[in-house]
Amino acid sequence: MASNSRGQFSSKLGFIMAAAGSAVGLGNVWGFPTKAASNGGAAFLIIYLVMVFLLAFPMLVAELTIGRYGQSNPIASLRSIWTKNRAAAGFFGLIAMVAASMILSFYSILAGWLMGFAAAPALEVVGLQSAADWLVNFGDARNVILALLFSLLTIYVVQKGVADGIEKWSTRLMPMLFVLFGVMIVYIFTQDGAMDGLKMYLIPDVSHVTPALLVDSMGQAFFSLSLGVGSMMVYGSYLKKDVNIPKTAAQVAAIDTAVAFSAGLLILPAMFVAKNNGVEIFNAAGDLMSSGDLVFAVLPAMFDTMGSMGMIVGTGFFVLMVIAALTSSISLLEVPVSCAQDELNMTRRKATWVIGSAILVLSIVIALNFGSLFGLVADISTVYMQPLLGVVWAIVVGWIWNRNKLLNELKEGNPEIEQGLFWKIWPWYVRIVCPVAILAVFMFSVL
Ligand code: PFF
Repeated sequence: MASNSRGQFSSKLGFIMAAAGSAVGLGNVWGFPTKAASNGGAAFLIIYLVMVFLLAFPMLVAELTIGRYGQSNPIASLRSIWTKNRAAAGFFGLIAMVAASMILSFYSILAGWLMGFAAAPALEVVGLQSAADWLVNFGDARNVILALLFSLLTIYVVQKGVADGIEKWSTRLMPMLFVLFGVMIVYIFTQDGAMDGLKMYLIPDVSHVTPALLVDSMGQAFFSLSLGVGSMMVYGSYLKKDVNIPKTAAQVAAIDTAVAFSAGLLILPAMFVAKNNGVEIFNAAGDLMSSGDLVFAVLPAMFDTMGSMGMIVGTGFFVLMVIAALTSSISLLEVPVSCAQDELNMTRRKATWVIGSAILVLSIVIALNFGSLFGLVADISTVYMQPLLGVVWAIVVGWIWNRNKLLNELKEGNPEIEQGLFWKIWPWYVRIVCPVAILAVFMFSVL
């Protein structure tokens, strides 16, 4: 584990972009708007914001701190803290690895669809209509082939390592995504029907606040900030000691939340614009038609209204979405790869290929049994495993970690922390409030 053989982020901005790259992905642009639209809009938005601020952000600080202290893969980092029970540390590290792999296996399928939508307009222009249709319509062959392509892309970037692969991609491409989002939001507001979507998104209806909504929004917040599964621990381990972790975590959480919020600002109005243009969005009972397809139905409908510009904007949007998904998927694959590299003494290249291929096989199994497996794997890994692993990390940081060592780690890059409000609140908060609140949300929803 010689530190010179591990990569490091070369700049603070590079780290923020990479961590934000992990956070910003399909969760923001597909998961969040879909859940908001099917749960009353504003009600979901508000509870989600509460969850991010009260539970996810403190846990992001915890995971980054564990990683930077350990300067290693999640398993070894946990062991370096949980010195009295190395077996337990290894066990939970392993569970995190499994959860990361499960997420990646369904994530690649979704990201593959985005690749299909990105390529389809160009094929249409050159007259290959049936190929374009194949790319955007549900089918086993399409699902498998596109997931395969996306997985290869993920493997390619991860085997290149931290500064060259992960950081370079994230820093260049994330800002482009923000700009394109802004342009599309401005455009959609000029269209008829947009205001209905805006009202739904911003005017709360408390009747939608149910126990199920609490668990869903908590899971969504953990998913969106890439928590629980070790991604943020690994990224923390590549972080230099002069970085102020709470501040950096706040910046990452703010970027992630801003993108999710903007995605809602785009998709919910776009839904009603599409409805205005005759696309079926709601059934007779007023419920959303198949919610998983919502974003894939609504956005192309919006691009169609843009005339010839629509093809360019649509292609640009989906290409950037693939990139956003890629900066997330690499952070998922990085978890098992970094573990295998150190624990099994594998080269990065070999570890990436072996593990990437194993996860790809899982993706293919899910793609071929989509109806029964996709939702199941997604729910088990995101709604249950992510928050519950969060409880474990909260206990590690709050109860197992020596207080002085924790303080010293946080002081690096932030020498005055002891005098500030953060240090007065956060350690107790992570120790008691985080685990109790996360478990309470589960109990509440089960009862
Ligand atoms: N945060 C990513 C998204 O919102 O799409 C998904 C994700 C990445 C979840 C990395 C978990 C993770 F470890």
